[in-house]
Amino acid sequence: MNDKLKIRLLGLAAAVFAAAAAILAYKFIIAGSTEESPDGRTAILLEPAERALVLAEMRGFVEAVRDITGALAKDDAPGAAAAAARVGMHSTHEVPATILGKLPLEFKTLGFSVHDAFDRLGMDAKDLRDTKHSLEQLSAILARCAGCHASYQLKAVVQ
Ligand code: HEC
Repeated sequence: MNDKLKIRLLGLAAAVFAAAAAILAYKFIIAGSTEESPDGRTAILLEPAERALVLAEMRGFVEAVRDITGALAKDDAPGAAAAAARVGMHSTHEVPATILGKLPLEFKTLGFSVHDAFDRLGMDAKDLRDTKHSLEQLSAILARCAGCHASYQLKAVVQ
């Protein structure tokens, strides 16, 4: 085999490797593990235990909304701040990487933005003690909850 051919073959191997890496990166970071659901939403395919974990996180969101609105109705800004902090960014550290790889990038971005917004609501509630401002922030968060629910579903699959 002459040198020119060797270089060409090496180049081809590098291109194949780069394409495989790009496909893997696309699959794990951007696309996730999904299929179209009959109701038009995107179904994310998760193991039953993974689905249960995400749904438990969702119920944590509702509990936070319950406690934040309850506290704001009593003008209890520190109470609202404490409830918001429970579902802040730190709570995402419990999500295993195997699940993150199955969630589409848009879902992860939206999910993280909601945790981040709860952190901001908590900090503002503590600093500003302005319940109307907190309610506006909560309303913006709930718009994101509703937006995500309109687009995605979680389907349990045994792999
Ligand atoms: C990034 C997307 C996303 C965001 C943001 C999001 N959810 Fe969800 N949530 C889902 C999906 C997907 C499901 C499963 C729906 C299905 O399978 O039909 C779900 C399910 C739920 C459930 C049902 C839980 C159960 O045990 O069945 C509740 C309650 C819920 N979400 C509340 C919320 C609240 C409140 C917020 C905002 C504070 C929120 N979610 C934000 C995607 C999201």
